[in-house]
Amino acid sequence: MGVFASTDDPVSTGHEQVVFCQDKQSGLKAIIGIYSTALGPALGGTRFYPYASEAEALADVLDLSRGMAYKNALANLDLGGGKAVIWGDPEQIKSEALLRAYGRFVESLNGRYYTACDVGTYVADMDVVARETRYVTGRSVEHGGAGDSSILTAWGVFQGMRAAAEHVWGSPTLAGRRVGVAGLGKVGKYLTAHLLDDGAEVVATDVNPRAREWARTTHPQVTLVDDTEALVASDIDVYAPCALGGALNDDTVPVLRAKVVTGAANNQLAHPGIEKVLADRGILYTPDYVVNAGGVIQVADEIEGFNFDRAKLRATRIFDTTRQILRLADDEGVPPAVAADRLAERRMAEVGRLRTIHLR
Ligand SMILES: NC(=O)c1ccc[n+]([C@@H]2O[C@H](COP(=O)([O-])OP(=O)(O)OC[C@H]3O[C@@H](n4cnc5c(N)ncnc54)[C@H](O)[C@@H]3O)[C@@H](O)[C@H]2O)c1
Repeated sequence: MGVFASTDDPVSTGHEQVVFCQDKQSGLKAIIGIYSTALGPALGGTRFYPYASEAEALADVLDLSRGMAYKNALANLDLGGGKAVIWGDPEQIKSEALLRAYGRFVESLNGRYYTACDVGTYVADMDVVARETRYVTGRSVEHGGAGDSSILTAWGVFQGMRAAAEHVWGSPTLAGRRVGVAGLGKVGKYLTAHLLDDGAEVVATDVNPRAREWARTTHPQVTLVDDTEALVASDIDVYAPCALGGALNDDTVPVLRAKVVTGAANNQLAHPGIEKVLADRGILYTPDYVVNAGGVIQVADEIEGFNFDRAKLRATRIFDTTRQILRLADDEGVPPAVAADRLAERRMAEVGRLRTIHLR
């Protein structure tokens, strides 16, 4: 699942179910994509975005829902992969009626799909959606939810980075390494703190002056550089993309000086084949969807009744999963992105197959 060629054809992508939802009065137009329920109900967030066309919205939900199946499989969750998109500008059309209409469509799937936050939707929105459906996570703490999922996302990324450090340098620590963090947002900030606690030197950048100011005042030992180009070309051991997707592309990979890439951003590989270029340059890339699964682990825990310590323990296991993937990649002579996909597909097939044992 490393990189998808977007397609608007659910038959060729192998999705189980794609549901188009419309409520004219509130302006809701949503698509819910369920890629797989082999491991359990599909879980994935709702992206609220002003897509240029319905075809673009469909292509996005197909890619994202498939990605969630792989992420949830390797996060060791008993959950399949799904995602939803609401087509429109949230600034213009988001309303109580629209969110509740959406909640009723989620409810109509009877638990085949659990929703959560994504770009354009927030914890407060999930509380509104929850007035119509039981199948919603990413809720506020006041409503028994997990709150800010970036806490365990950052923790999981840190665990993945420790496993990569062990693989490359023989010891599961970033102590004494120079780590370049691109993006000091919700995840990047927590990650920076973990790295400094571990004894790493942090070099960082962010386009937002407020984020840079945060670094200057909170962690004056962090070295700030002008932009991602400067960060990538600087003398760093680890590159941590924590801003937008596509960080590993034809411009960055050839000049990257880091030996390891581990970061929170989704869809870091800009196009198919770039994982091979990384491997050929001797750069270890820990697949984004493996190391950034702490957030989904955090919200998935709400289904059991949220317990932070239990969720943190699960996110800590990202260390073991990353280690397993890196070993498999070596054993099978493939890049880690390919090894991760194989492991996820194996779990979906092996555990999913058990449903064929008849119970009643
Ligand atoms: N928050 C989560 O739980 C979670 C879970 C999984 C994956 N992710 C992914 O991790 C990434 C970061 O998430 P977040 O919640 O911290 O988002 P965020 O919006 O809080 O932070 C992103 C930061 O990146 C900065 N940025 C944007 N463009 C940049 C550029 N060109 N160069 C440098 N900095 C730039 C922004 O100013 C912002 O401070 C995203 O790709 C997100 O999809 C987040």
